[in-house]
Amino acid sequence: MNAPTAIPDAEALRACWHPVAFADSIGSEPVALKLLDEPLVGWRDGDGVPHVLSDLCIHRGTALSLGRIVDGQIVCPYHGWHYAADGACTRIPQLSDPTRVPAKARVARFACQDRYGLLWVALEDARWPLPEVGEIEDPASNVVTAGPYRWNADASRQLENFTDFGHFPWVHPGLLGDPSRPVVPEHTVDTDGHVLRYEVVRPEAPPNDDFPVFGNEVTVEPERHNRYQLHLHYTIVLRIDWGGERRMVYLFASQPISPERCAGYVVMARNYDHDQPPSVLQEFEDTIFNQDQVVVESQRPEQVPFDLADELHMKFDAVAVAYRRAMRTQGLATGAVSA
Ligand code: FES
Ligand SMILES: [Fe+2]
Repeated sequence: MNAPTAIPDAEALRACWHPVAFADSIGSEPVALKLLDEPLVGWRDGDGVPHVLSDLCIHRGTALSLGRIVDGQIVCPYHGWHYAADGACTRIPQLSDPTRVPAKARVARFACQDRYGLLWVALEDARWPLPEVGEIEDPASNVVTAGPYRWNADASRQLENFTDFGHFPWVHPGLLGDPSRPVVPEHTVDTDGHVLRYEVVRPEAPPNDDFPVFGNEVTVEPERHNRYQLHLHYTIVLRIDWGGERRMVYLFASQPISPERCAGYVVMARNYDHDQPPSVLQEFEDTIFNQDQVVVESQRPEQVPFDLADELHMKFDAVAVAYRRAMRTQGLATGAVSA
């Protein structure tokens, strides 16, 4: 096909919260991170508060993430310039008075926050808050994380894959779908600003002895009830039940590292199976995401083509159609909205 006319708008996406790491992977040493092609460095101070700066020393462009933290400041590995957590350079050791620092000597500082076991970053003032997922913050929940799933694909393709109904029996037979029941049930999508809501009761795979992770008590042609919230740009909250008391919540968020690279984070909260080792659910998710990765990395173009004239949409692709339309309406994908 020709180059798509509407793709994710990296400039507009800067004003959104994105996950950049699991929160517990950022400690007192500097860690290199990347978001929307912007190199970042993150660390935690003595109180555990996270900080994120540009990973380019203003002096000669060295990666600050190769340096170290001294007294709460990050020290460049090349010439030892010190930067405070707000990005201001405070010390240039080569000067006879190291504190006579020019005002221009600073690097960009970015907003960050810990939530749901993830570190989130916004490169500019975020337009919308993070979704509310109280179940994950409920101490009574059984919370398990999985990922990050680093794919050679754009975050928009990874996001659409998570919400695509038609592929379950084909890509995940016996795990997320039943090949004998491939018909996608009727569903409609309600678009409310930057949030898409939709529900679907769909065939569940029969219970799988290798991965006893779901809560269906019915074993013959079981069904799962899914309530989705798709928060533009790349975040999904999925609430599942199987008609009984058991409940499961998925928070899925994809990190746009670059136009060809993304990382998917999964945070799950269940009100059952508290004694099950987290590895059971993690291995299940690893299996599912590996099955998806092969397919999604093959998709061309690499980024979702947001113009509805591109690709062929069927009625059962209603979510993708609404998503593509909303991304353009909200200015997160380039190009004017076509009718
Ligand atoms: S490059 Fe960082 S101090 Fe010189
Ligand atoms: Fe999938």
